[in-house]
Amino acid sequence: MKILAVVGARPNFVKIAPVLAALREYPDVECMLVHTGQHYDGNMSQSFFRELEIPEPDVNLGVGSGSGTAQTAEVMLRLEPVLSAERPDVVIVVGDVNSTAAAAIVAAKSDVPVAHVEAGLRSFDRTMPEEINRILTDAVSTYCFTTEPAANANLAAEGVAAERIHYVGNVMIDTLFRFREKAASSTILETLGVSPREFAVLTLHRPSNVDHPGTLAAALAAIAPIADAMPVIFPVHPRTRQRLRADAGTPASPGIRLTDPLGYLDFLQLMANARCLLTDSGGIQEETTALGVPCLTLRQNTERPITVTEGTNRLVGGNPEAIRRAWQDLRRGTWPQGRLPELWDGKAAHRIAGCLVR
Ligand code: UD1
Repeated sequence: MKILAVVGARPNFVKIAPVLAALREYPDVECMLVHTGQHYDGNMSQSFFRELEIPEPDVNLGVGSGSGTAQTAEVMLRLEPVLSAERPDVVIVVGDVNSTAAAAIVAAKSDVPVAHVEAGLRSFDRTMPEEINRILTDAVSTYCFTTEPAANANLAAEGVAAERIHYVGNVMIDTLFRFREKAASSTILETLGVSPREFAVLTLHRPSNVDHPGTLAAALAAIAPIADAMPVIFPVHPRTRQRLRADAGTPASPGIRLTDPLGYLDFLQLMANARCLLTDSGGIQEETTALGVPCLTLRQNTERPITVTEGTNRLVGGNPEAIRRAWQDLRRGTWPQGRLPELWDGKAAHRIAGCLVR
């Protein structure tokens, strides 16, 4: 059996690592890895391969940056000859980035079954490029591997047959459990001079938060009550860095401390020890739920509702009043502890590998 996995952007690397490791346990399975090159900086790509022990990609398509359409089209054009030459039995794609949708469409058009890891998530907000990617990818996938019951319901509502839906759990949490201990020896807290539970962590990179003039500055101003009380460590995504340079200027509060993007282990250690996370990332909503750390999501919606209903996540948008109330709840100690969602047990990738091989 020949399986070809396609990854392109930072969260993809975190998700594919346990799937490739699980597939390696089947000696009859030949696995190939294609990197589209959507993310290419050392600290956005290679450091994740190294730390998460992901094998070197067999092929790098080198697509680089561009508009969503240009990036998607380049992946499609460059992947098609690879699929024609390799003729895999199945193509695995993960998450919801442009590389995910592009690869899924090419595989489906090449008559190769697609397996989508993290299928069925919906924010119901089609202004998010990821939402379009999710819908397209699931529409052409033969195997939809899901992380939470809402995803199963979304797929069923879109007419996906029950036998295509496989509720397996969360591969991002597989990686978190696998590397938690190793991350604990990171010295990032000492390097940054912060103490456990006496700092917050901020990440912002969604186009809706960072691409429009003024919105990034407004988001940074909205978190001032927290930044005035404790250091807020802010590893800055390249997209956000461009906007900071272009028009948002220096963050309002001197408590916000900018760093370059961090590696997986350092970032996990920061999350595990933070008083809270402030984020517009999807993955961080899940990781904080698994860690039991409060998460304030700077978005109006989430495609991962279980992190709110069972976990430690609260949607605060960019609303300064909602952020102030959340900060009050944190200080009073009334934030929900949350619980680990069903099947977020570190074994999701094994279930996926087992299903594909069967
Ligand atoms: C992409 C994903 C998003 C994911 C995020 C994780 C899509 C639609 N979006 O967003 O879902 O949460 O990755 O990081 O696929 N850049 C660099 N170096 C790099 C990569 C990017 O400088 O290694 C800069 C480029 O200027 C680029 C910009 O960042 O134009 C945005 O990169 P892109 O891959 O288009 O989207 P992300 O914002 O990273």
